[in-house]
Amino acid sequence: MRAQIQHSFKHTIQMAGNRTFTMIKPDAVRAGNIGNILQMINAAGFRIVAMKLTKLSAEKAGEFYAVHRERPFYGELVEFMSSGPIVAAILEKDNAVEDFRTLIGATNPANAAPGTIRAKYATSVGENAVHGSDSDENAAIEGAFHFGGVEMF
Ligand code: RTP
Ligand code: MG
Repeated sequence: MRAQIQHSFKHTIQMAGNRTFTMIKPDAVRAGNIGNILQMINAAGFRIVAMKLTKLSAEKAGEFYAVHRERPFYGELVEFMSSGPIVAAILEKDNAVEDFRTLIGATNPANAAPGTIRAKYATSVGENAVHGSDSDENAAIEGAFHFGGVEMF
């Protein structure tokens, strides 16, 4: 019993550190880049744990980005993120959060390293093709915001 609990605890800890959450944002979906971006995610060694095409209401987008509610771009961000369908996904890999941030590149595509998702597919600092969680804690919160346990594999 004790061994089982320890195993399960260790499993939980490992999962937390190995998962991130992403959205392919409305600009990239509109531009027909879902396939190109998923290809890059797969090629970088991420396993898809959960995924769906969905759309955020303005209310849900506001809730998701609530951390930015005092920033001058918040209204624009909420409007943009609720402007069309997105692909939401939970991804798994060693060091998932950091490695995924590296794969997507800087927030402003003008500063994104060559070959990153944002360098290739983002058009501006606001319409920047993809979201990536910024911490293990936020990855877990954001994953649970979009997916129930039975939708994760
Ligand atoms: P994300 O959360 O979407 O992965 O992006 P991020 O961490 O690289 O950037 P963050 O600072 O969290 O900003 C969230 C999103 O807000 C929009 N933004 N617009 N107009 C602007 O100056 C501005 N700054 C940020 C972007 O869509 C950014 O991804
Ligand atoms: Mg962020």
